[in-house]
Amino acid sequence: MSEIKLLSGIASRKLMEDIARYLEVVPAESMVSRFSDGEIRVQILENVRGDDVFIVQSTQPPADNLMELLLLIDAARRASASRVTAVIPYFGYARQDRKDQPRVPISSKLVANLIERAGADRVLTVDLHADQIQGFFDIPVDNLYATPIFREYFGHLDPNRYVIVSPDIGSIKRARHMANKLGNLPIALVDKRRPSPNRAEVINIVGEVSGKDLLIVDDIIDTGSTLCEAAKALKEKGANLIRAAATHGLFSGNAGEKIDRAPIDEVVVTDTLTVDEGKRPGKLNILGIANLLGEAIRRIHEERSVSSLFI
Ligand code: R5P
Repeated sequence: MSEIKLLSGIASRKLMEDIARYLEVVPAESMVSRFSDGEIRVQILENVRGDDVFIVQSTQPPADNLMELLLLIDAARRASASRVTAVIPYFGYARQDRKDQPRVPISSKLVANLIERAGADRVLTVDLHADQIQGFFDIPVDNLYATPIFREYFGHLDPNRYVIVSPDIGSIKRARHMANKLGNLPIALVDKRRPSPNRAEVINIVGEVSGKDLLIVDDIIDTGSTLCEAAKALKEKGANLIRAAATHGLFSGNAGEKIDRAPIDEVVVTDTLTVDEGKRPGKLNILGIANLLGEAIRRIHEERSVSSLFI
């Protein structure tokens, strides 16, 4: 049987090493460096002929992260790996996923094309911004949910005390799933509007939040606007404790400071992305996703079901 060979770009090196520990394998020797003009240069430094290669790389900006992934896929393909899986814990460029205005790209489709054309045989990812992005690929995509990790962290919450909040209409399915997993909790919805990209305005709150402890559930925290505006509006409606859980913490700009100033008691994200210490909000807890990804990799390698991880 072919061996598992684990590689990564620079951005996801730590996560790849954690996955390797879970799988009890030694990461494959590889090198990612730069030519003097900044162009990326990669090389796989050991034989992967006939091997089952898994390349771990989140594709948040800068685009060099995506480029490293594409180059590593190409290198593995040309080195005669038997199968190449792109493990993309955070799939970037996912937010322009339809032509909803004139003259806009469908960025996630373009990125899917690039990954496929580079030579990936399959994709493993976590909490895609929109499930339908799976259909932009003509290769198998396993989209894991981080819910089991949050469930382990938050435990069973009291349905008389806690309400799960979706911070916008797009996250309602995710919120309902989390509500079911944490103990059939009631849900509330924040009706959010985006006057321009990266700005959020709350129009209305649907559901009972007064005197309740809340858990706001989202896939991404980027500028923190969605979360902070939701928290302020919820507090004005009489919410008690406000906690937030998001799979991917980008914390761009001054998101960390903004969150620290907002009426939010705790923020929990997974480590699909590495967050600079200086950018983190003080009230942040980071949960490891390596075991979940490691288990999925093991099952893909052994041709076993991955769907039982979608709990
Ligand atoms: C929106 O559709 C997403 O689910 C997140 O709510 C959004 O990406 C968060 O962005 P920001 O933190 O910049 O408001």
